[in-house]
Amino acid sequence: MADIAYGRQIAINEAKWANHYSSDHQILLVGEGDFSFSLSLAMVFGSAQNIVATSLDSYDLVIKKYKRAKTNLEMLYGYGAQLLHGVDATRMKHYTDLQMRKFDRVIYNFPHAGFLGKEDNQQVIKKHRSLVSGFFENASRMLRPGGEIHVSHKTTGPFKTWNIEDLAWKSSLALLECVEFNIADYPGYNNKRGDGSRPDQPFHLGKCATFKFVLSKKSNNRQQTPGNWVLNNNRTCFWIFREYLDHAVSTFGKADDLFYSVPIMLGFGFERCKTVNHVNPLHDYVNLVKELRNMSNRRISYLENFLREIDHP
Ligand SMILES: C[S@@+](CC[C@H](N)C(=O)[O-])C[C@H]1O[C@@H](n2cnc3c(N)ncnc32)[C@H](O)[C@@H]1O
Repeated sequence: MADIAYGRQIAINEAKWANHYSSDHQILLVGEGDFSFSLSLAMVFGSAQNIVATSLDSYDLVIKKYKRAKTNLEMLYGYGAQLLHGVDATRMKHYTDLQMRKFDRVIYNFPHAGFLGKEDNQQVIKKHRSLVSGFFENASRMLRPGGEIHVSHKTTGPFKTWNIEDLAWKSSLALLECVEFNIADYPGYNNKRGDGSRPDQPFHLGKCATFKFVLSKKSNNRQQTPGNWVLNNNRTCFWIFREYLDHAVSTFGKADDLFYSVPIMLGFGFERCKTVNHVNPLHDYVNLVKELRNMSNRRISYLENFLREIDHP
């Protein structure tokens, strides 16, 4: 768009958006397959000046595995992208090309450690979780202020049991939101298996979502005394007690044996509390339960006031 100011014509470049991503964001993509996702963003932005697109595989392997990769990479290069190969997401913060860079968005679509056996095998799940964990640990150190880490992931079957929110939390990352992933939002993107005998084939997407993470408050001071971070932190409370809160929503107005089910739901919170680093689980759990009770009291006061206003408008 052009604007007139003080008699001069000034070109103002408006940011262009591709779903969650803006041409103004500094974007790092890791674990790319045929680079069609990066290209899809670049085509909407009309530029890839702010895009760093990477793959674990070498350039030679990428163009051997994916028939469209060579063209996609050439186009990305033409749009000004920085292209890096041999980038391991679990070690990337140390790489010379990346260690001085910070990003507004770090994106890993459909992380997968390869076809190592049945997807519901516990050892296989452990490998996938270790990949995602290592990615979070690295990506969390590469964010600009206000930056976000996005992981698109299947939300059903064994994939659900990876519990990526718990993995993120271990790197001081809190879930900002989880939104349905719709491939049609990224024209030209072809999701790839990436491994095995048919790496260029798409995998069945089914139900999947983009999980968006931000640095949590506890990351401001990774050394802080155990227990401090939990107090008055609603987001933590929501995260720790999510089964309890989901349960409250799903049983609202229905007959439910509260004496039996509430302690079970709170027990899930305790288990989650134990998974968080730097925390004295019992002490922090007690503080969190207190915060949960405060939240309930605040909600009751709010509802009472609301009802009063309905009664006495
Ligand atoms: C299911 S494929 C998804 C590919 C691509 N992101 C897409 O959406 O089409 C999983 C990808 O993760 C990559 N990958 C596996 N381990 C990795 C690691 N340690 N670091 C970076 N990428 C890795 C594989 O090379 C593969 O490209």
